Amino acid sequence: MSAVPLQGVAPGPQGPLGKVFSVDLLARKRAKHAITAITAYDYPSARLADEADIDVILVGDSLGMVVLGLPDTLRVTMEDMLHHARAVRRGVQRSMLVVDMPYGSYHVSTDQTVTNGLQLVKEAGAQALKIEGGAEIAPRVRGLVRAEIPVFGHIGLRPQALNSMGGYRVQGRTQAAATKLLDDAHELESAGIAALVLEGIPREVAAEITAHVSVPTIGIGAGPDCDGQVLVWHDLFGLFSSAPAKFVRQFADVRSVMQRGLEEFREAVEARTFPSDAESYHLSTGTDFHQHPSPAVPSCEK
Ligand code: KIV
Repeated sequence: MSAVPLQGVAPGPQGPLGKVFSVDLLARKRAKHAITAITAYDYPSARLADEADIDVILVGDSLGMVVLGLPDTLRVTMEDMLHHARAVRRGVQRSMLVVDMPYGSYHVSTDQTVTNGLQLVKEAGAQALKIEGGAEIAPRVRGLVRAEIPVFGHIGLRPQALNSMGGYRVQGRTQAAATKLLDDAHELESAGIAALVLEGIPREVAAEITAHVSVPTIGIGAGPDCDGQVLVWHDLFGLFSSAPAKFVRQFADVRSVMQRGLEEFREAVEARTFPSDAESYHLSTGTDFHQHPSPAVPSCEK
């Protein structure tokens, strides 16, 4: 359970701590109490994260890669996000539900951004939306904030900028690049973001941004000095066989557990030990059931 009581709202019907809102994340930053965040893409994982008292559940557009098997996040659509966010919403009671706006859903205009943002709030129950980008997206942030939608910024390594960045590369390593990230953070802060995701940047830069912006920072591959940390569900549980990125810590080897379970299931079915009689239904007591003789299996005619 959290050591810092949530400040924003009176306790809700779902539990003594009530629901997490962005005001609570701000209180965490001020109290220097680390914020926890995890991605989730479906109902059972959302329930697990919620029951584990994770502060923020992010329906990330990483779902394109880890759930849909796409090569990158660029092809993820509004329909994909709506579909998964609705499922996650059903599993969330306490955690704050944040949903990624997918590539192309906020790149055309502020009107387009607000229209799509409203759809994610109204149809999927998002409490906040996350969009990638620096100073150039400040007008989009303002539009969403005017529509009463809290916004999480996302700077540094931005997966949706894969093509313009020339691959998934750590950002902000030079003085100019680090200064640009700090400027972007300030621009987004002025535009009204509620929190800022820092991805794939040197820990020194993340620490500087965290110390100089008033909103909570949530890091992924940005070192330990951020106000909170987020991981992708499949990385945390080691669900892929490929070597994880340097910043990933696998907190459980769920892949091995699943593999072992599948092998044991296959072996039991092949050995006809599953299902057992105890795992089978039986006729009601006293029921007289006459089996018909099984039809003769025709032998191969020569
Ligand atoms: O899509 C996602 O999962 C994300 C996290 C990596 C922050 O944006």
